[in-house]
Amino acid sequence: MCGIAGYVGNKLSMPIVLNALSSLEYRGYDSAGIAVNEFGKIIIEKSEGKLGNLKSKVNNKLISSSCAIGHTRWATHGEPNKTNAHPHKDFGYNFAVVHNGIIENYNALKRKLKKENIKFYSDTDTEVIPHLLYLETKNKKITTNLMINALHNVVKQIKGSYALAILVKDLPDYIFIAKKQSPLIIGLGKNENFIASDVSALLSHTNNTIYLNDDEIGFITPNEIKIFNAHLKEVKFSVTKLTLQPEQVMLGNYKHFMEKEIDEGSKSIYETVKELQRNRTLHKIPVSVIKNCSSIHITACGTALNAGMIAKYILERDCRVPVFLDCASEFRYKNPIINENSLCIFISQSGETADTLACMELCKSKNAFCLAITNVVGSRITRLADFCIFTVAGPEIAVASTKAYVAQITALFCFVKAVARLNKKTLDYNEKDIIEVSKMLAEHDYKKELNDLVKKIKNKESVYFIGRGIDYFVALEAALKLKEISYIHCEAMAAGELKHGSLALITNNTVVIVILTQPDLIDKTLNAIYEIKSRGAFVVLFSQFKDCAKYVDYFVELKNTKASLMPLIASKPIQQLAYFTAIEKGNDPDKPRNLAKSVTVE
Ligand code: F6R
Repeated sequence: MCGIAGYVGNKLSMPIVLNALSSLEYRGYDSAGIAVNEFGKIIIEKSEGKLGNLKSKVNNKLISSSCAIGHTRWATHGEPNKTNAHPHKDFGYNFAVVHNGIIENYNALKRKLKKENIKFYSDTDTEVIPHLLYLETKNKKITTNLMINALHNVVKQIKGSYALAILVKDLPDYIFIAKKQSPLIIGLGKNENFIASDVSALLSHTNNTIYLNDDEIGFITPNEIKIFNAHLKEVKFSVTKLTLQPEQVMLGNYKHFMEKEIDEGSKSIYETVKELQRNRTLHKIPVSVIKNCSSIHITACGTALNAGMIAKYILERDCRVPVFLDCASEFRYKNPIINENSLCIFISQSGETADTLACMELCKSKNAFCLAITNVVGSRITRLADFCIFTVAGPEIAVASTKAYVAQITALFCFVKAVARLNKKTLDYNEKDIIEVSKMLAEHDYKKELNDLVKKIKNKESVYFIGRGIDYFVALEAALKLKEISYIHCEAMAAGELKHGSLALITNNTVVIVILTQPDLIDKTLNAIYEIKSRGAFVVLFSQFKDCAKYVDYFVELKNTKASLMPLIASKPIQQLAYFTAIEKGNDPDKPRNLAKSVTVE
């Protein structure tokens, strides 16, 4: 959802900011732009499309500035063209602004600005900011104090979310910043400082960071950082040391981050279990929260929601606790029945997903206990939650979630285990079994087995996935992953639902991929297979039950483990199927069209 980066120091700023934008490109790649302050003159360069276009454009330009801001865009307001690309400016080139977020009242602000004879050149919400800054500072001598006051007055007028970085023509060594609901992190260097939407853009320069809080504004220069709260009181900030290593955000020998991250799935399962054990995290959840809760509510989006479905199923089936599950974009609007006895669980890889965060705020306002399962330490969700369970997947760069999905399922399995322990219920797995699964995943690669299947589906208009029980949730994730990076229409259905309508879609050679991993559901799932087979479908089966291979056209054998844990085993081939299909079709699996990671707008 847009990445912003900035540098001020004693080095050439442009290459540093362009490099930082490369690490942030997963947040959006509709356009990119950079602004530098070259001795009191603001120069802006922008390009439509991926960052590579901007890089080739500015490659040979000798711009000797040591202060720059940059942006990589996921379009929300206005087409993804060059005009709408950030940075945005006022007409006098006094200010250049990059923004991540949405200014919800931009129409009202535009009307106000138009009354002051200000003309707009773009369709973006962001453009109001440089014009508002212009009005606040018009005919005044620009000083640091004046700018902080002006920025304070501007952000007071904004409804919505923002992480802002601003260059000021008359203050060549300053980057002004502001944050509300979108992430913004300062990186501390020696005679240089940085800002970025995400630590991955800072790692190659520094381990020392400051996470800006909502409603804070401030500035960085090469040797100074000042942050103010919403009442313009200077804030004492604390420095967070990063433990991430730069290699964790590099491709190494892989062609794509998605390929690397699928491979890292087994490690992320292992590390998540070990970290939870080391910290005794689950023992630290107040017992009363689990024992006295009237209901559990799981809220998340996309892949994280699919992980939540598996937990709901096992919590209800084995722990006998009622669980409600909603996608975050719907939950808020249904006036949910939440009170101080509700345990609300929010799953988010990034910890920054706007819909999920909005739900958490709602549940907090109803005094529910809010538990976050997230991959990003320091993310907004971790600061709002009453309790955090961290997945240890490491930074996930590819837009399609893979290693974070298995880490989320792992953390949920461990959480369910804790609930079962307190409720004196038994499960079919323990933590040792999960570690075993992580080893099995590391040992097996499905490239060869999937080769012919990839060729079969690559030119299909539609592919269907079916499953029952837990397998249906795996089918949902398989369909999401394949559609998102192959652009093939994919749909997942509960196997038993086919005959209630969807069977009408099955004709000669329709590809239906069946997930069958639950021993008690073999017969019923086979019924669905017979139904689709007799309508001429090409049936693919992902299963550990070799005896079932004879009923289908294509069989992918899965390793076997405890039934509840089978979604972890099935995760790798479904993710690899999506990855290899995208590659076969010539798509960029890391940056699927129209999407971005970290959906920080509602
Ligand atoms: C799909 C995918 C998305 C995310 C969703 C939630 O591959 O990655 O569906 O799962 O946008 O993101 P987080 O987990 O960051 O809240």
